[in-house]
Order: sequence, then C-alpha cells, then structure tokens
Amino acid sequence: MSRVAYVNGVYAPHGEAVIHVEDRGFQFADGVYEVWSVFDGRLADFDGHMDRLFRSLDELKIAHPMGRGALAAVLRETVRRNRVRNGIVYLQVTRGTARRDHPFPSGDVAPSVVVTARSMNRTAMEAGARKGVAVITQPDIRWGRCDIKSVGLLANVLAKQAAKERGAYEAWMVDEMGLVTEGSSTNAWIVDKDGKLRTRDTQANILRGITRAAVMTLIAEQGLELDERPFSVEEAKQAREAFITSASAYVTPVVSIDGATIGDGKPGPIALRLRELYLEKARDEAA
Ligand code: PDD
Repeated sequence: MSRVAYVNGVYAPHGEAVIHVEDRGFQFADGVYEVWSVFDGRLADFDGHMDRLFRSLDELKIAHPMGRGALAAVLRETVRRNRVRNGIVYLQVTRGTARRDHPFPSGDVAPSVVVTARSMNRTAMEAGARKGVAVITQPDIRWGRCDIKSVGLLANVLAKQAAKERGAYEAWMVDEMGLVTEGSSTNAWIVDKDGKLRTRDTQANILRGITRAAVMTLIAEQGLELDERPFSVEEAKQAREAFITSASAYVTPVVSIDGATIGDGKPGPIALRLRELYLEKARDEAA
C-alpha cells in the first residue's frame, strides 16, 4: 500500500511530497511538531497534543495554519488514506517559506503544514516491552554545541527577531556569567578601554567564525594587540569601539548596545580600517 503525505493542502504520494528549499523549518528549525499514537484508527491523547501544539505555535508567534477542527480533519484523513490502524501520525508546522533571513519574515507568509502517518507493529512492540529496554547516559547538551554550524538556529532566530523588534541589527547573546558569547549570526568584538581588541575565545561555546579568523590575521599583520578573552556587557558598553564579523556582514561597526552609545556613537576607526582591509583581501584572494 502506497503511503500518502499531506503538504500544504495537498495529499501527495509520500515519495513525491516536498517542501520548498527555503522553508524555515529546513533553514532554521523554525517550526514545531507533534506526534499522536493511533489506536484502531483513532488518535490517542488528542487534546493534550493539540493543546501543546497551539501553545508551541503561540510561544514562537507562528500563525495558526488552521483551526483545531480543520487540523483534526487533516490528521484523521492522513491516517485514513494511509490505512493506519495502529501506528503514529506526525504533524509539523513551520513559519513558512521566505528568503533566508534570520528575523521572522514580514508580510503574509503562510505557515507550512506537513502530516505523515505510518503503521507500527504493535505485537512486536508488546513483545519488546515485555523484555524491557536498555538506556545509556549522555551529557545534556541541548543545545550546547554552538561550535557546530548546525541549521538548528531557532534560538538565534528568536534573538535576531528581538533585535529587529527593538530597532537593532543584531543581538549579542550573553551567558549566565554576564559575558557576551556571540551575535545571533555574527561574532562579537570590542576594542576595550585599554585599546586592546577583544573577542571571545573559541574554547567557549561559540561558532568559530571564518571571518573572525581572517580578521585575526589582519590584526596580527597590523601589529594590533588582540586579547582572545570574553568580555562582559558592561565592558562592551564602556569599550572604545565594538563591531561584528560574518561572511555576510564582513566587519560591521556597532555604535550602540542596549541603547548605550559606544565611543562617540560613530563607527570606530579600527573597525572601519579592519573592514577596509578585510574587503580588500577577501576580494583579492577570493578563489
Ligand atoms: N552566520 N556566529 C554565528 C552564530 C553565525 O551564524 C555566524 C555566521 C557567525 C560568523 O561566522 P562566519 O564568519 O564564518 O560567517 C558567527 C551566517 C553568515 C548566517 O547564518 O547567515
């Protein structure tokens, strides 16, 4: 029996069911999901999962793709079309498809909805349950591996959206010690009050920015002093200069942090010089 998946209003053969390449679920993990177990074609703990789904959507400010009744109809129809008597039905709702950009897309972007269902062999499952299962332990790293350039960027998306809502370009993330880790999509830098360039070390939980590394080479070539050491929000506010680096922002001066003016409120000379040098070298050496 061929499987069927529901994607944005269409029931398609499972193997042909596709979402757009710029779906935010694919690009940023900017979506939510639920799984119901199916017993004799009916959905278990129906309300519990529905309530959690709508709560998750509301927490992320993702629009409701449809009402509860309509969604229930789609879930049941997917179960029916897949002839699932015992198994699971999976629902995913993402913020929809838009040009890749961290903040929520503006305008009328419809959330994407995907539903799949599959049968499970409950007899085999019962036999397994009677034997019991083994577990292992693992450090809880959810999500403590910011050194990996993962597409699991939901936290970054929320930080960038917060920046946008407060009229800022970027959000610098701060750890439990009050130290800046990095930007939502950039590395964070300051020129501290002693004139030293500062950026957090990569032992810590940050992305090892390629632009960051290139800028470090420039700093060494220029004979500037670099201190690869975390800085606090307070130190940043009192810095002579601040800037961010990334493949899409190059070296971009920062002129205010949480409303506090940095330096004289104008892009700093070191940041501007590093930008110029970076662009020159990047263009020259682009492969
Ligand atoms: N972001 N930190 C984070 C969390 C990032 O997502 C990025 C890059 C950087 C800077 O890394 P690099 O210099 O290698 O670009 C730091 C890209 C530009 C993005 O997500 O669009």
